[in-house]
Formats: sequence, structure tokens, C-alpha cells
Amino acid sequence: MNHLNNSGFATKQIHAGAKRDENGALCMPIYQTATFSFDSVEQGGARFAGQENGYIYSRLSNPSLIMLEEKMAALEEGEAALATASGMGAIATALWTAVRTGDHILADETLYGCTYALLNHGMERYGVEVTLTDLTDAENLKKHLKPNTKVVYFETPCNPTLKILDIAKVAQVAHEYNPAIRVIVDNTFATPYLTRPLTLGADVVVHSATKYLNGHGDVIAGVIIGKADYLLECRMFGLKDVTGAVMAPFNAFLMARGLKTLDIRMERHCSNAMKLARFFESHPAVAKVYYPGLESFNGHETAKKQMRLFGGMVAIELKADKETTAKCLNRLSLATIAVSLGDAETLVEHPATMTHSTYTADELAEAGISEGLVRISVGLEDPEDIIADFREILKDLK
Ligand SMILES: Cc1ncc(COP(=O)(O)O)c(C=O)c1O
Repeated sequence: MNHLNNSGFATKQIHAGAKRDENGALCMPIYQTATFSFDSVEQGGARFAGQENGYIYSRLSNPSLIMLEEKMAALEEGEAALATASGMGAIATALWTAVRTGDHILADETLYGCTYALLNHGMERYGVEVTLTDLTDAENLKKHLKPNTKVVYFETPCNPTLKILDIAKVAQVAHEYNPAIRVIVDNTFATPYLTRPLTLGADVVVHSATKYLNGHGDVIAGVIIGKADYLLECRMFGLKDVTGAVMAPFNAFLMARGLKTLDIRMERHCSNAMKLARFFESHPAVAKVYYPGLESFNGHETAKKQMRLFGGMVAIELKADKETTAKCLNRLSLATIAVSLGDAETLVEHPATMTHSTYTADELAEAGISEGLVRISVGLEDPEDIIADFREILKDLK
């Protein structure tokens, strides 16, 4: 595998996984094919039996996806990666490969809404036990580990409150209890440019690659990174037989294109987010700002330890009721009201009624997601223009 082990991040994001094309194409051609021809019946049989390397069918693998997978393995410093059709495809594939009936998953309670739905209402249907609790507290984590715990699962920063979990601490506590537990981290908000969970003791990283990794808002995609033997099981069981959530070759091409600029996009997202967070911090109409880069933020010290910069996501609560908040946001002229994140455009959404509407009112309160919380994916526009847009809508609120 082309890991470019001694190269820097920027070199890897451009060159890892790239193969020299026989016609000299700089960008790898898109292998837009469902299946691959065999020279003979014997060759087809040998490939199915695993006696000969080579492609069989694009649900198993495809050169366009392999190129992307090698790039992601290099960026996350993992042995192997697997591209999937969506972030949820990655999460479902990783979890269904790791557990079976009777096993237990311990997960943090603040999660992207559909991950929460899968864990809270989905997996229990099939006899997998799930506990959702606050994993920032190591004692609480210890208390909930059980002999049948196979997975400890969390995001950091969490969607949507930006809560920070200490990856090294959670991995240490889980592995001290049982080294076979798989610690799975959703690294969507941080990206490998800011945090590399595998180097901090986690076993598996999952991503919604729809977000910063692709970065241009034009692809739904996911990826899993980890040890080669587990990734092979994810490919040959979780993906091939269970979820079938295979990434399309064209999407792999777009993702590899987006990844070439990940570091410079993240630098700009982070510096714009810091400026916007500071603006909100000093605005009289803002009751609370959630941003890991602010000294006043609860997880700031842990964020400093495990993140290169503090990310491009900011959340706020206004000193206003839900209706007034909505009226205010409807007046935004540069920022767009939309779910998703990590795009060039600044996107604003209301978690309680949108991305996290899978939580009940009690579950929202338990996870610290208030009715007034507004999530902002800070884009790549000029920071003065983003701030001016918010200044304008907040001017009559005090
Ligand atoms: C943190 C996180 N994980 C996973 C997902 C799911 O990804 P996708 O929409 O690509 O399926 C999302 C989507 O918003 C997310 O924010």
C-alpha cells in the first residue's frame, strides 16, 4: 500500500493511493463498471476462492474506490480503509461487523440523530443490547462496561453540541477492562487533519465523508478505517452481505479530488469559526456559545490536547424563544438554512427539529441539546461577510 509513511499530511492527501495510469492520465480514470471480466472460468473460480488477486464485482471492490481507500488509510494512519455509500453506510457496516445477538454496545448519548436512531431503536430489534450515556466521565464509562461489551462508540466533537471526549482516556479505560473491545470513533467533525483517533488508542474510525472530506456538498459518502483483518471482514461481510452500501466510482473520484485540498480548507474553516465564535461570545443577544476553541468551553483543555485546531462547527443559543430564533434565522442572507456541514457555504440548522428530531424531548434534554440550539457549519466565505450576516439578524435582539 502506498502509505508515503515519511511524508507530511499535504503530500499524503494528494499522492497517497495514486497509481500511474498506462496512458499517463494525471487524474485516475473513473472505473465506471459493475463487473470485471475473467480470462477463463478457472480464473473466475480462483478469484472467488481467494487464490488469485484481482477484481470480481464492484460491490466487493473497484480500482476507483481502492485509490480512495489507500488515501484515507494513509491520512488516518490506519492499516486499511473501506469506502461506503454514506456515513450511515459506514457506521452500520462497522457495527454489524463488530457485533451479533447478545452483544452489548456502549455509546455516548450525544450523537448524530440517525446514528442515535440506529443505536437506540434499530439494533435492539435484533437482540443487540445498547447503553447510551455520558462517556466524558471515566467513572461512568467504567460503570457501564460489561463482559458482553464489544464496542464503545462515540463522536468527538459531538454533533451538535461540540462536546469533546478524551479519545486516549476512553480507549485506555475500555481496553483495560477488555483489550478485545473495539473503540469506534466518528471523526466526521474533526477530520484526520485535526485529530487522528487511531494514533490515540482507538481501534476504528468512521466518517461521514459527505462533509469535510469531500468538502463541496455534492456527494453522499462514508469511510471506515482500522486494522486490515477487521476491514476485510467489514468488506466481505458487513458491506458485501449486510448493508450493500457501496460507494459509486464517480463519487470516489469526486472525493479524491476534494481530499487534495483538505488541509487548506480546514485551516480556513477553523479560523473563520474562531472569529465567528468570538463575535458571538461578545454579542449581548447570545446566551451561550459552543465552540471547543473558546477558553470558556467545557472541553477546551481536552480539545487542545487532541486537536490541531478547533474545527469549523459552532453552535449558539440566543436569548430568545424558539419562534423568535426561527424568525431571526429566516432573515439570513448569506448563510443558507440547510442540514449537512463541511461545505464551502455557511450552513445553519436547528438540531431539535431537524438533524436530531429522532430524539424524544427527554432524550434531547439528557444529551444537552436545547430547544434553542442553532448549529452553524462555518463556510469558507470571507469571515467579515459571515459575521456581518449574523450581526444584521441579531441587531434587534437584546
Ligand atoms: C457526525 C455524523 N456522523 C454520521 C453522519 C451520517 O452521514 P451521512 O449523511 O453521510 O450518511 C452525519 C450526518 O450528518 C454526521 O454529522
